[in-house]
Amino acid sequence: MRLMQHKKEAWWFYRFLSVFYDKYVNPLFWTPQMRDQSLQLARLDDPGLHVVDVGSGTGFTTLGIVQFVKASHVYCVDQSPHQMAKAKDKPELSDCHFQLGDAENLPFDNDHFDRYVSAGSIEYWPNPDQGIREAYRVIKPGGVALLIGPLEPDSRIGRFFADAWMLFPSDREYRQWFEEAGFTDIQVEYIRPQWYRRKAEYGIAIAGKKLDPGVSPGQATARVIPEPEKMTLGRALQLFWRVLIGSLAGFIFIPAALFGYLLRLFAPQENIPEQYRERLNFHQILALLVIIGLLAGLIWYIF
Ligand SMILES: C[S@@+](CC[C@H](N)C(=O)[O-])C[C@H]1O[C@@H](n2cnc3c(N)ncnc32)[C@H](O)[C@@H]1O
Repeated sequence: MRLMQHKKEAWWFYRFLSVFYDKYVNPLFWTPQMRDQSLQLARLDDPGLHVVDVGSGTGFTTLGIVQFVKASHVYCVDQSPHQMAKAKDKPELSDCHFQLGDAENLPFDNDHFDRYVSAGSIEYWPNPDQGIREAYRVIKPGGVALLIGPLEPDSRIGRFFADAWMLFPSDREYRQWFEEAGFTDIQVEYIRPQWYRRKAEYGIAIAGKKLDPGVSPGQATARVIPEPEKMTLGRALQLFWRVLIGSLAGFIFIPAALFGYLLRLFAPQENIPEQYRERLNFHQILALLVIIGLLAGLIWYIF
């Protein structure tokens, strides 16, 4: 189903989620430790590098990038003005460049950047292979592209909700898209938040190098600039139910993560550096209490 793997649906999803994203949602699934571990693959080894952050959202990954690269050399691209407004408000990102745009049709010339980074955005791209070919196209020969995304859950119930929500590719698909796009020297890291205790991997950071100039060798035909979608009454109704049901499927993962955190509450943290210790913030504790209250109310009502 993948109700949110569509540009319009994702736009509306983030129209609302951007309000809660930084405080409630993002810290549960994409932590500073995961980000810093992933960014190592991008080889941000010179402050003068020019970097594009695609699907930059509220700028959480960009905050990691500007630890290594001058903010004035970082270009943030996202299709959601609401997410981007939050990133623009962050003082550390005030010198970055911001441009609304589509990951599958980037508004840049060939061979433009030294590095490409995209974190947690591929899930919403209708044509993920095209997005990865765009990563290839916009970096210079010798440049590196890093893509970070979730992996398909191993449990049947997890897969059911994930599949109703958006794209959770397999390890094999990520590798195949990178190889077909023409990347060489492909490197992979597996990442997970500390609350996630399952055996199966949670997320992947995959990076590859571009050797030759120009478009991806996997780009069989010229890039087609997509027409803006026409809005009819039928499509508006479809959009409404898809965003509603897709959001509900996605929100199931929030209590799952909050309870994962609760179970970790008394786990030893001494070996974890202070900046990477994962704790629930005030807003999340409040959300957890509301969820517990609702569950208790439901049980009381039923019995
Ligand atoms: C989960 S957020 C990740 C944000 C950010 N990278 C971070 O690390 O927190 C996904 C972002 O991808 C953006 N997005 C989804 N589809 C996109 C597309 N086709 N082109 C550009 N951005 C897109 C969304 O608007 C959203 O801001």
